[in-house]
Amino acid sequence: MARMTVPAFQQYKREGKKLILVTAYDALFTKIAEQAGIETILVGDSLGVVVQGKPDTLSVTMEDMLYHTRLVAGAAQRALVIADMPFLSYQVSVEEAVRNAGRLLQAGAAAVKLEGGAAVVDRVQAMTRFGIPVVGHLGMTPQSVHQYGGYKVQGKQPEQADALLADAKALEAAGAFALVLEAIPATLAKTVTESLAIPTIGIGAGAHCDGQVLVLYDLLGLFDDIAPKFLKPYAHLKADALQALRRYKEEVEQGKYPTDAESYH
Ligand code: KIV
Repeated sequence: MARMTVPAFQQYKREGKKLILVTAYDALFTKIAEQAGIETILVGDSLGVVVQGKPDTLSVTMEDMLYHTRLVAGAAQRALVIADMPFLSYQVSVEEAVRNAGRLLQAGAAAVKLEGGAAVVDRVQAMTRFGIPVVGHLGMTPQSVHQYGGYKVQGKQPEQADALLADAKALEAAGAFALVLEAIPATLAKTVTESLAIPTIGIGAGAHCDGQVLVLYDLLGLFDDIAPKFLKPYAHLKADALQALRRYKEEVEQGKYPTDAESYH
């Protein structure tokens, strides 16, 4: 398998091939994802929730993102590594946005992702002008959770849908090479996908996007605190882990582990 690059990623849309992304935050799962043929890995700021146990992504720092990006990029041999820009790393000024995006590339990412539409267009323009590939993120953008009053589907009202389409076109014009669409109606995602030359990556955005992304721990059934409608767990690793740990505890208590076979002589 050849290394996935930004131009190759865009070529997938032209060829009608689906783009498959998962999040990863460490070397072990990066290697497993690559072994499964996953070609693009997102170091998502969702790590604030699934790794750090926080209620949302707002407390994730640049230092957190740099650390996890180094782990993933250090292990990835072929996958395109995209790193999320955490809350407050790009909102304050264009200058801070470019510097922080550059730091994520220095940590090994090949591209960055940031949330928002018209408000971040100047950031996207500046980054792409300096050779930093950018992925946009529209719809239910988790860093705005308090504005939405919870993790709620966006773009249901016609005015919201029109604004989202305008934001998508503005991000494309600013140089974004792809767009994540999160928790929006499938029909809106279809319209956006058909209106853009750059690929759309859906999460809770239906089947018409050019690709899909899921949070790895959700996909593996490791994190069952939240179960959004769009989520399909492809494994039940939390149940497996619980069973294994209970058995281990029981066997040590009962003197069944270790046996002679597990002992050095
Ligand atoms: O942080 C993240 O994992 C994300 C994806 C869910 C799109 O932004």
